[in-house]
Amino acid sequence: MSDFKLRMEIHSHTDYDPQDWIEHSAEELIDEVARQGIDILAITCHRALQWSPQLKSYAEAAGVLLIPAVEASIEGKDVLIYGLERFQHPMSFDQLRELRRQDPAVLTVAPHPFFPSNTCLGNKLFTHADCFDAIEYCHFYTRQVNFNAKAVEAARKLNLPLVGTSDIHFLTQVGKTTSTVQVSERSFAAVSAAIKAGRLELHTKPLSLGQLSLQVAQMLWMKFKGSHLGRRQASRTAVAS
Ligand SMILES: [Fe+2]
Repeated sequence: MSDFKLRMEIHSHTDYDPQDWIEHSAEELIDEVARQGIDILAITCHRALQWSPQLKSYAEAAGVLLIPAVEASIEGKDVLIYGLERFQHPMSFDQLRELRRQDPAVLTVAPHPFFPSNTCLGNKLFTHADCFDAIEYCHFYTRQVNFNAKAVEAARKLNLPLVGTSDIHFLTQVGKTTSTVQVSERSFAAVSAAIKAGRLELHTKPLSLGQLSLQVAQMLWMKFKGSHLGRRQASRTAVAS
């Protein structure tokens, strides 16, 4: 079978997320991803795996391959894990190593590793380099300020591929930074293998100052609602624990 390319958004959040106040549901996110012609989506809520056969079928009907995923907090650091249908928080780096040993198809990506937050990996990316298959190139940057520069350098040093994502918290972010992956079949196993082998391309451009201002305002509003209006009980289609 000859290879073909699929475009993917593999870092996104929904109203299922227990940490951030997100307006859109998984179905609304899938609809927008499909509308933009993006082929693959991973929903990566913080410490919570949003996955069910119904959601997978909903995505399939929209022409989107949905990959089970989570943005885990491992020893206080954000780590994207793909290919799990169950997730137990908390997890240590040693447990992540064991998980990867038991299931070689599991894919792990270092999200926004050098952004200015205590939850970003920073130099722990090097300490635990054996736990990662790829490093994220995050959409949130401008020509003047780009915290991805150190991620590019780390990817070169560690010989790991860069994968573009939009770390979606708002539907307006869909498609801002993506990757295309070269696969021989439309499956998680094929996507995971292709990323690990570096058969992918990064598609990104810096945010304009107007886009940056809008996103900062949206994030402040999200934080305000999260801290002042209390946690909303999201409709949870499935909880894997
Ligand atoms: Fe995220």
